[in-house]
Amino acid sequence: MSAITILGIETSCDETAAAVLRLEDGRAAILSETVRSQVEEHAPYGGVVPEIAARAHADIADRVVEVALKESGLALSELDGIAATSGPGLIGGVMVGMMTGKAMALASGKPFIPVNHLEGHALSPRLAEDCAFPYMLLLVSGGHCQFIRVDGLGAYQRLGTTIDDAAGEAFDKLAKLLNLGFPGGPAVERAATSGDETRYPLPRPLMDRDGLDMSFAGLKTAAARIIEAEDLSDQDVADLCASYQRAIADCLSARADRAMERFDGDRLVVAGGVAANQTIRAALDAVAARHGASLIAPPLKHCTDNAAMIALAGAERLAAGLVAEDSLAFTARPRW
Ligand code: KG4
Ligand code: ZN
Repeated sequence: MSAITILGIETSCDETAAAVLRLEDGRAAILSETVRSQVEEHAPYGGVVPEIAARAHADIADRVVEVALKESGLALSELDGIAATSGPGLIGGVMVGMMTGKAMALASGKPFIPVNHLEGHALSPRLAEDCAFPYMLLLVSGGHCQFIRVDGLGAYQRLGTTIDDAAGEAFDKLAKLLNLGFPGGPAVERAATSGDETRYPLPRPLMDRDGLDMSFAGLKTAAARIIEAEDLSDQDVADLCASYQRAIADCLSARADRAMERFDGDRLVVAGGVAANQTIRAALDAVAARHGASLIAPPLKHCTDNAAMIALAGAERLAAGLVAEDSLAFTARPRW
C-alpha cells in the first residue's frame, strides 16, 4: 500500500471531530477536517461536564463524520480504514466515537483502528512538517501535563507528569475563582496583558525536587487565599493573572530545561491547548535556544483536540502492520 487514506474520529473530551487524511511516502495530507466544539454547553459550569459531553457527542457525531467524508470528496469504500480515539478520555464520548467508527468499518469491510488519544497528540507535529524522530514532547492541556520522549511510532517514554492538576486545569480553576469564564486559559492570558507579573509571590511547587514531575494544585490554593482575603480591583485581578501565568511558565520552562539537558535530540515540541499561551511559548522558546534546539508548536487547531492527529496515528499504525485482526473487539479504555 503506497498511499493510505484514513477517516479519523475524536470524541474523548469536548470536541466532536472527524478528518480524512492521506499518508503517502511518510507525508500526511489532510483532505478534510470538521470540528464541533462544545464550549458553549460547558461554559455555564466552568468546566467539562461528562454527561453533557456524552449527549452532545451522541447528537452530533454522525453529522460531523458525514461532513468530513463529503468534504474529502471520497466515498466510504475508497478509505483504507477508520480510526477512532479509544481512550484515554471520558467514557461516554469515547464510546460514541468508537461505535460510530466500528459501525462504518463493519459496513464497509475496512479495518477499524483503535487509537490512543495521547499517541495522537504525540504525533501531531508530524501533521504539518517533516518533524523527524526523536523529539521531546511537552503535552500541556486541560487534561494532561507531561513530558514524553518520542523515538518513533509506538516508542514513547513518559519522563514526567503532573502529580495533581494539569496546567490547563490550573488556568481554568483560576478563571473560575475570578469569574472570568470558560475556557480559562485564554481569559487569564487576556487579563494578564495589563498585569504586573511580579506583584503576587506565588509558589513554584516541586522545583527543588529531582525528576520531571510537576504540581499545580498548590498554585490554585495560593490564589484562592488571595482572592478570599482581599476585595480585588480590576488591576489586582490583572496582576494576579499575570503572576499566576508567570508561575506556570516558570514551572514548565524549568522542567523543560531539565528534560532537554538529558536529551540528545534537537527538537522540543509543545502541544495541547496551553501551547496557545504566548508567555509560555516564549519561555519554552528560550529553553530550546539554550540547548541549541528548536521549539516546534503545531498550528493551534492541531495543538488542541482534533481528528487529523487520530487519522495520522491510525494511518501510521496501519502502514506499520500494527492493527490487530480482531480490532472490532477492542473495548473503550477510559484510562488507557
Ligand atoms: O488540548 P485542549 O483543547 O483540550 C484538552 O484539555 O484535552 O486544551 C484545553 C485547555 C484548557 O484548560 C484551556 O484553558 C487551555 O487549554 N488553554 C490555554 C490557552 N488556550 C487554551 N491555557 C493558557 N493560555 C491559553 N491561551
Ligand atoms: Zn487532548
